[in-house]
Amino acid sequence: MKKSALGIYLIIFSGLIFFTMGVLSAADIPDDVTVENQGYKKNQKGSVHLSHKKHSTEYNVACTDCHHEYKDGKNIWKEGDPVKKCVDCHNPEKSEGNIKKLQLAFHSNCKDCHKEPNKAGKKNGPTTKCNDCHAKE
Ligand code: HEC
Ligand code: HEC
Ligand code: HEC
Ligand code: HEC
Repeated sequence: MKKSALGIYLIIFSGLIFFTMGVLSAADIPDDVTVENQGYKKNQKGSVHLSHKKHSTEYNVACTDCHHEYKDGKNIWKEGDPVKKCVDCHNPEKSEGNIKKLQLAFHSNCKDCHKEPNKAGKKNGPTTKCNDCHAKE
């Protein structure tokens, strides 16, 4: 009797720890991210600012809409896993098989989503203007 009660407390307690860890990791992401990769043949457009936390909390974009690690064609990356830089897998100079080159990878990710509301006929979607993302020189 006593033992099983202890067991239940242990289960509740470890559940709480996992819950807190989950909340902390979501709150722990960088507020803002500056994307400024080297390695492009021409680095002409300057750095790009991403309101990282806002995208995830206010705009409700899932982490997995931007972060991935593919295995057998499936995204196995999940929140809490280490985050590699996009450039670690996407080469700035050339696409390799179905791994798009870096500029294309970013544009497909950022711009394709930003274009969706326009395609659906809405007028006030996120920006698709070059200089709203790229710092002007
Ligand atoms: C929604 C945001 C967004 C919009 C809109 C956008 N870009 Fe980008 N673009 C990015 C990001 C992010 C990168 C990656 C930057 C890096 O790796 O340093 C990038 C990279 C690039 C690069 C390669 C890196 C460099 O600086 O040379 C070029 C060229 C570029 N964009 C041109 C454009 C042009 C031209 C437009 C408008 C027709 C445009 N982009 C619109 C987000 C955007
Ligand atoms: C709109 C796209 C987007 C969303 C949504 C997003 N991220 Fe990111 N995140 C990025 C980009 C882009 C970077 C910078 C990657 C680079 O420089 O190559 C980044 C960087 C990070 C980093 C920093 C890695 C480092 O090098 O310091 C962490 C950690 C991270 N993201 C975790 C998360 C988690 C957890 C979520 C969900 C709660 C999330 N991100 C949601 C696009 C996103
Ligand atoms: C661990 C390696 C790795 C990292 C890190 C990575 N990618 Fe990818 N990415 C891939 C691979 C592999 C594919 C091809 C998947 C397929 O279609 O088979 C891919 C496909 C894509 C695609 C096209 C498929 C789709 O989802 O529509 C985009 C866009 C993309 N990546 C953007 C990004 C961005 C932006 C980042 C950084 C926030 C990033 N990737 C980080 C390996 C990676
Ligand atoms: C899955 C959808 C999605 C993806 C992916 C995404 N965005 Fe956005 N973005 C949004 C939405 C929604 C807004 C808010 C539009 C509004 O309310 O005006 C937004 C707003 C913005 C804004 C203007 C407001 C602000 O908070 O700064 C910038 C700049 C921006 N995004 C850059 C980026 C960049 C750079 C990337 C890729 C690294 C990216 N976005 C990826 C959906 C997305």
